[in-house]
Amino acid sequence: MTQPAFHRIDGTLYVEGVCANDLAAQFGTPLYVYSREALTAAWHAYADACAGRRASVHVAVKANSNLAVLNVFARLGAGFDIVSGGELARVLAAGGKAENVVFSGVGKTADDMRTALEAGVKCFNVESIPELDRLNAVAGALGKKAPVSLRVNPDVDPKTHPYISTGLKANKFGVAFDDARATYRTAAAMPHLEVVGIDCHIGSQITEIAPYLDAIDKLLELVDQIEADGVQIHHIDVGGGLGIRYDDETPPEIGAFVRTVLDRIEAHGAKTGRARDVFFEPGRSLVGNAGVLLTRVEFLKPGAEKNFAIVDAAMNDLARPAMYDAYHAIEPVAGRNVAAQTYDVVGPVCESGDWLGRARTLAIEPGDLLAIRSAGAYGFVMSSNYNTRPRAAEVLVDGTHVHVARARETVAQLLAGEQILPD
Ligand code: LLP
Repeated sequence: MTQPAFHRIDGTLYVEGVCANDLAAQFGTPLYVYSREALTAAWHAYADACAGRRASVHVAVKANSNLAVLNVFARLGAGFDIVSGGELARVLAAGGKAENVVFSGVGKTADDMRTALEAGVKCFNVESIPELDRLNAVAGALGKKAPVSLRVNPDVDPKTHPYISTGLKANKFGVAFDDARATYRTAAAMPHLEVVGIDCHIGSQITEIAPYLDAIDKLLELVDQIEADGVQIHHIDVGGGLGIRYDDETPPEIGAFVRTVLDRIEAHGAKTGRARDVFFEPGRSLVGNAGVLLTRVEFLKPGAEKNFAIVDAAMNDLARPAMYDAYHAIEPVAGRNVAAQTYDVVGPVCESGDWLGRARTLAIEPGDLLAIRSAGAYGFVMSSNYNTRPRAAEVLVDGTHVHVARARETVAQLLAGEQILPD
């Protein structure tokens, strides 16, 4: 990469070879913009560190499920991590292969299980005994054996936002560590299941390696016990990927993270004479910093206590600030020669929680374009139609070419499925 995918020329923001002002003029705002180069570079950070080792990368579809984005990864040979039948349909439509799909999620429906079994997914990450029972029944009815790994809750604190920490005892996810050995015995005895691996996921936006190693050590201890019971564990799925830099976070380099995890698992394999495959399920770190949300300033509104910049994107377009108090950098697309002031950047939705950035120092005027950075992960996918706001368009920039990855939704589309009462 000669220059970063998002860079400035004469003070104006460019995405690869395309000026952000031109994108907004052509496609309107709010507009999600992704860079193919940035997606590809993030993929290589994982894939290159896995090369030559028994490791594979399964893109967490939930972070960004646009077909064009998934297709970029499918072309690079990615596997995928899904949590619904809908996500499986997206992976297949984007050119991904079912045999490289792992199916996670705490509440899989029988329909979703059936579809995934018929498609031939690689593994079901199962989270409870009732789910094992259901999968066993569905597989039996289809005359198949379902490949399973149990998602074990290692009870480690990933030190992230409570809403996105998932591996603590208090969370709804996974099989409790103390019950896991017995649950494996139960699974192994079910006639239509085949135990193939073990899985965990401790949380998201984790910016240290240590919590992963704590979880892996606990998992490896368990693997020895499970194998002592005569059940073979062929793969270890370590869950999601690293956190990213939104503000001043300093996550380790992806390659270093991958190598440290693999070294730990391989060392255990060497000691016990058992080599195993390792799966990673990164989402945020593949797509987060490969996307921005462009939004236009509608009004500047001085207030008694603060100034507001009212923009045309809102909490329905990017829910993370309202939902997790999340920080996203907000930058004017072009410089402007006016006095900078401190603004809360807010949307038009009728909620005080509808904010995108607080106390930001910006030199802006109405009509200016802003870029909300790090919006590629959990951005568009979490958007809604609240206030009957059509969802934003998404474009994928590839050099100087702009591909419309998703056309802007229309109000007519929003009304299409609804009916008023008959006379
Ligand atoms: N695998 C499983 C089973 C997961 O539940 C998740 C994320 C991932 C992989 C991907 O993790 P990542 O590499 O992205 O950290 N909406 C929240 C994040 C929720 C994450 C849920 N699980 C946010 O905007 O911060």
